[in-house]
Amino acid sequence: VALECRPCPWDAAWRPRVHALFEAVWPGFPARLAIAERLGADWHAVSRPFVAVLDGLLVAHVGVLEIPLVLTGVPTTVAGIHAVGTHPEHRGRGACRALLAHALAYAEGRAATQQLTTEVPRVFVGAGFRSVPETCFEVGPRRLPPAPVPLRRLSADAPADVGLLSGLLATRTPVSHWLGVGEPGWLFVIDEVLACSGFARLYHAADLGAVVVLEVRDGALRLYDVVAPELPPLAEIAARVPEPFERIELLFSPDRFDVPVTAVREAYPGDHLMVRGPYPPEAGRFALPLLARC
Ligand SMILES: CC(C)(COP(=O)(O)OP(=O)(O)OC[C@H]1O[C@@H](n2cnc3c(N)ncnc32)[C@H](O)[C@@H]1OP(=O)(O)O)[C@@H](O)C(=O)NCCC(=O)NCCS
Repeated sequence: VALECRPCPWDAAWRPRVHALFEAVWPGFPARLAIAERLGADWHAVSRPFVAVLDGLLVAHVGVLEIPLVLTGVPTTVAGIHAVGTHPEHRGRGACRALLAHALAYAEGRAATQQLTTEVPRVFVGAGFRSVPETCFEVGPRRLPPAPVPLRRLSADAPADVGLLSGLLATRTPVSHWLGVGEPGWLFVIDEVLACSGFARLYHAADLGAVVVLEVRDGALRLYDVVAPELPPLAEIAARVPEPFERIELLFSPDRFDVPVTAVREAYPGDHLMVRGPYPPEAGRFALPLLARC
């Protein structure tokens, strides 16, 4: 029986079939998509699905997104390749390879650059993707100013917090000009909800007018993103973090923050950024922000 690779609509006939495949590949995934949709980030409005059908059965999926980024100062839309999955019972027979080729032909027509992140880079080498290293930057020890108002964690269950976040996302400037994100927030929310089932790493700095994406782990304050119309100084953000930490790590290009940094390590060990086509930031050190990954 021949494998048929095709785009599919998100209509009442196809959506449950694609979701059933998602559930077989990533258990719990459709439930998280439903949460993101409730929070205003509808996967089905932004992801173009391609499927491989074998003897009437849906055996593989590849999605294509269009993600507005800023690459070395130039607003650029890249095609994001995401949710690449083959049903566990149909792996190792070329379904992913064939479907990827089909989806990439479409993606190339939408954007000169295609990008993805993956734990299994080997899968994508044959399709022409190359790995691009990403760097974590450390900020040296510094005195923090006294901060009257600590950060407050946002709640996905509080409509006011959801509204506050979407307002800031709509008016943010990219956290970096070397590799920044210009998408209005759907990918940001989808990524946070897929990882955490809600908001877990999003904090409001009310007096700075910013939402900060962070974790304090292993003695480090890890800053993943800053969402604001104007970026506040790094020391002002760090001063508002209630948990103790010994050092600050930036997981994005630090070009818009006026602080001395050292490139210390790989930004996302095990999660490889891969690209196809022109990718100007490659000429320097950078990291693709956590909530712009797909
Ligand atoms: C990764 C996955 C999509 C591969 O699907 P598949 O239909 O079995 O893959 P194919 O048989 O079409 O093989 C495609 C290529 O990937 C390689 N490959 C497949 N599975 C691999 C694995 N687990 N590790 C390394 N390489 C792998 C094949 O050798 C082949 O390489 P080639 O094109 O250079 O010959 C499937 O295993 C899967 O759904 N895994 C769980 C979800 C996942 O990890 N998705 C990818 C991350 S974004």
